[in-house]
Amino acid sequence: MSQDGFHVGVVGATGAVGREMVKTLEERDFPIASLRLLASPRSAGEEMTFRGESITVEVAQPDSFEGMQIALFSAGGGTSKELAPEAWARGCLVIDNSSAWRMDPDCPLVVPEVNPDALEMYERKGIIGNPNCSTIQMVVPLRPLHDRFGINRIVVSTYQAASGAGQKAMTELSEQTVSTLNMEPVEPKNFPHQLAFNLLPHIDVFMEDGYTKEEHKMINETRKILDLPDLEVFPTCVRVPIFSCHAESVMIETDEPITVEEVRALLTDFPGVEVQDDPASALYPMPLNASDTDPVFVGRIRQLPGDTHRVSMWIVADNLRKGAALNAVQIAELMIAEYL
Ligand code: A2P
Repeated sequence: MSQDGFHVGVVGATGAVGREMVKTLEERDFPIASLRLLASPRSAGEEMTFRGESITVEVAQPDSFEGMQIALFSAGGGTSKELAPEAWARGCLVIDNSSAWRMDPDCPLVVPEVNPDALEMYERKGIIGNPNCSTIQMVVPLRPLHDRFGINRIVVSTYQAASGAGQKAMTELSEQTVSTLNMEPVEPKNFPHQLAFNLLPHIDVFMEDGYTKEEHKMINETRKILDLPDLEVFPTCVRVPIFSCHAESVMIETDEPITVEEVRALLTDFPGVEVQDDPASALYPMPLNASDTDPVFVGRIRQLPGDTHRVSMWIVADNLRKGAALNAVQIAELMIAEYL
């Protein structure tokens, strides 16, 4: 490994997002002097490959962060609560994919194309929140639309892949699919019901108001990232039986008059967005095409005749990449360019 660059760690390196983080660091030629891969005692000793070299997975513990400069966490909220402050106490910046620190007023919650300036306060706790996957892909295209037209209401339904619930959930979806096709009984483990050949309008736990915690994340995180504490957000989050990519049907209401042509032009020029919108030739974003790619794809941009303040669209992105690993690595790149 090169001696130039930073001492980096990935916590939760054996998980669905952690593996994607390692892959993304490699693909983007991230400046790395050393890389430590950390997980639970269950996978200590496992070998993973980075830039052609084998790295042994170690147990994540406070001492792991000695000499480390940047740690990407994706090992669940409990691990982040416990170990992220330990990392910063040793001078290691944390970019955390769990929800543990996202709403902490002293922690920036950042999508680089949307609110890079929020990173300025990173030294307050040394922990930067990587937002929820469904939130990230929604706020990227909404940023230029809000800047131009002022968004006052969002109504969104999500179609979220099993990979958003981790590696075990993906394995369970394949097993359930095989069992069902073989007419064998299915015993749900990571989901509240069978997911194969089904739809679950239930992601994370239900809250007192009837919305789920996942839906609360979309409301609260969108408000924090766009710095719009009173923005009206009405989400319905649904788990669907696919492995990769989240899709979203989004309708926005705006303060200023808005047209489909203006939306298309603004989104075409915005970094991180790719417009795929030619219904006549059946061109629109789909998970099968978006999988393993970086952009947030937007299509089906439309408006009812005579409606001047509402636009609907269909947004698809790879939830493990832009929705998680890629966004975290982009934050790290921005930190290096601007602050470290
Ligand atoms: P392990 O593979 O050893 O269980 P996913 O979201 O795909 O389920 O992945 C979760 C990741 O978080 C895995 O890498 C998992 O490691 C890791 N993890 C879970 N609990 C801990 C813990 N207490 N300390 C460190 N890593 C953990």
